[in-house]
Amino acid sequence: MPSYVIIGASRGIGYQFLKTLSRDPSNIIIGTARNVGPIQAKVTADKLTNVHIIEADLDSPSSLHAAAGQTSKITGGAADYLIVNGAYLNDHLAAFKPYDFLGKEEYFMEQLDRSMHTNVAGVLFAINAFLPLVKKSIVKKVIVISSAMGDIDTILEAGVDVSVPYSMSKAAVNILVAKYAVSFKNEGISFLSLCPGMVLTQVESYEAMTPELIAQYDFLKQLFRNIAPDFKGPMLPEESVEKQLKVINNLSIENTGAYLSHKGTKEWV
Ligand SMILES: NC(=O)c1ccc[n+]([C@@H]2O[C@H](COP(=O)([O-])OP(=O)(O)OC[C@H]3O[C@@H](n4cnc5c(N)ncnc54)[C@H](OP(=O)(O)O)[C@@H]3O)[C@@H](O)[C@H]2O)c1
Repeated sequence: MPSYVIIGASRGIGYQFLKTLSRDPSNIIIGTARNVGPIQAKVTADKLTNVHIIEADLDSPSSLHAAAGQTSKITGGAADYLIVNGAYLNDHLAAFKPYDFLGKEEYFMEQLDRSMHTNVAGVLFAINAFLPLVKKSIVKKVIVISSAMGDIDTILEAGVDVSVPYSMSKAAVNILVAKYAVSFKNEGISFLSLCPGMVLTQVESYEAMTPELIAQYDFLKQLFRNIAPDFKGPMLPEESVEKQLKVINNLSIENTGAYLSHKGTKEWV
């Protein structure tokens, strides 16, 4: 009975991990959320009977330790796959370039702090809280959902000068994952920074996209066509999660610490 822990599973890609993984009744799936009520109701309505929802906040180490304790009781002590998915995202900043923060230094610092806190320190808190459970597993895989926005070659070649604090936090978390990979290679724990590709998570379907959202994605599409001329735009979460799970299955101790896309390569879209 493989066990999966998804940190930050209330919506978007995180919730899709719950849905996709729950299709195999032999999986035990733990999803964490800051606010358990609404997601528990959704899980019940979607009849995801092998999914357990537990409260945890990436900004709170104590909540993550409590979640690890509860998980241990459900799984019998181990966690085979730890997937740290949650992140602080601020759509408002999607259009801000570094120079746009001139005169807005306090705002920059506040956003940098929030991004680094949740997306980097929060990942460390989560991994440290759940590591004792991962060590008890035979599978021993830790996956951190990163982003191509943190890749220097992509920034330069596609020409992406926006989403500054978020991108910095994703570059930093890739370093953190590499450090963990070095620390725990001898214990057989495999770590991976995994970019899910460009995924439509703000609304449920392409038809539900607002004109503003279409414009936002058109802007990104144009940029990413600089590195992938045939790029068609965002995937739905289901497609991304299926692809990510294949990459996760291929993860081994030989490539621990890698930073890969949903294609298992450095092709980000
Ligand atoms: N969508 C994309 O195109 C894309 C591309 C590259 C990378 N990613 C990465 O993929 C992951 C999921 O993105 P998404 O598009 O699914 O985003 P999303 O729909 O906005 O969902 C974000 C998730 O993070 C959780 N979260 C936020 N702050 C948290 C905290 N302090 N503690 C625990 N959970 C927290 C949210 O929970 P609440 O409901 O409590 O807010 C929510 O479940 C992120 O790491 C993101 O950086 C996404």
